[in-house]
Amino acid sequence: MPKAKTKTSAIKVAIIGTGGMANWHARYFKATRGCRLVAGVDTSAERLRKFTEAYAIPQAYSSTTELLARSDIDAVAIVTPDPYHKAIALECLAAGKHVLCEKPLALHYPDAKAMADAAKKAGVINMVHFTYRNWAPFQKIADLIQKGKIGEVRHVEASYHQAWLVSKQWGDWRTSDNWLWRLSSEHGSKGTLGDVGVHILDFATYPAGKIKEIYCQLKTFKKAPRNRIGKYKLDANDSAIITVEFANGALGSIQTTRWMTGHLNRIFLKIAGTKGSVCFDSQLSESAYKICTGADIETDTWKTVEAKATPHLHQRFIKSIRTGIQDQPDFARGAEIQKLLDASFKSDEQRKPVRIR
Ligand SMILES: NC(=O)c1ccc[n+]([C@@H]2O[C@H](COP(=O)([O-])OP(=O)(O)OC[C@H]3O[C@@H](n4cnc5c(N)ncnc54)[C@H](O)[C@@H]3O)[C@@H](O)[C@H]2O)c1
Repeated sequence: MPKAKTKTSAIKVAIIGTGGMANWHARYFKATRGCRLVAGVDTSAERLRKFTEAYAIPQAYSSTTELLARSDIDAVAIVTPDPYHKAIALECLAAGKHVLCEKPLALHYPDAKAMADAAKKAGVINMVHFTYRNWAPFQKIADLIQKGKIGEVRHVEASYHQAWLVSKQWGDWRTSDNWLWRLSSEHGSKGTLGDVGVHILDFATYPAGKIKEIYCQLKTFKKAPRNRIGKYKLDANDSAIITVEFANGALGSIQTTRWMTGHLNRIFLKIAGTKGSVCFDSQLSESAYKICTGADIETDTWKTVEAKATPHLHQRFIKSIRTGIQDQPDFARGAEIQKLLDASFKSDEQRKPVRIR
């Protein structure tokens, strides 16, 4: 069990990896009481300079080792591309730092498990950045199911759709390194499944429970001559369709793609039970969910309910450091989701269902 942080001064945080997503972390840490952003780390001097200037972060380092030579850092957020998460996390954990790590935790389950084990051994707070845990309706849906409001779960439909292979609203993937690495397994990408499939697997299983069997089909479409742009071989999956059986026997379909024009970033979840259904559609609202229970079942009436705001992950991370009480999602949860990712790849390769053990 992590030790409570007894000091009352601000928790000193460093962000490692100062690219696109680091902006999100900077904004959320800045909006969290009781912490202070004191350092940035990046291998790109230019990106590091722009980032630290933009957020008035006083110190900048070109490596984690350099950062850790400084003894006053309490916590780090690891926001580098996926292949670097493990080595950086292990280095920070060994130095006794609390760690918030971007998803996916690692590239494979054994690596993710090693990270979870190291975090446990270090006795520090560890969290994986499953962003959508910030959304209040999602927390509320999990709570309703836990309390039995829709009875026993029988059927789950979950999807995460993006459109950036067609739409240029987020920039042109053909010319941007920050999109191209996501299309290339040599550059550590696990495709759409590893990138956003990881969220939808968490999104589906957090409320609906563990998965016991998974069947996955992945697809990569040709996107450039010889399927290559510069140093990037475009071989990482673009789409995934997964069918699952949950531990209680419920069935589910989980899917994700980067080809869903008209849905730049849409998350949809419907969970049906023996006494009702709940539904969330981010394209309609990020703060409300729908529910059909009781007498409404007989008339197919869905009530829209605004969910009361819940603390975001950065607030929960800092609170956990202060109280010593580990909040979710921790590295162990990150590793559990990693196991589902590995099983999905195995199922696709073998063209058959894979049992989760
Ligand atoms: N939770 C979410 O919703 C969400 C959304 C987007 C990205 N992500 C995750 O965030 C991470 C970063 O994604 P991004 O979009 O910011 O990528 P990015 O390519 O925009 O930025 C990554 C940065 O890390 C730096 N970097 C690379 N190796 C490094 C190292 N060894 N030490 C220090 N810095 C290093 C790069 O120079 C770059 O500036 C990825 O793991 C990605 O999956 C999560």
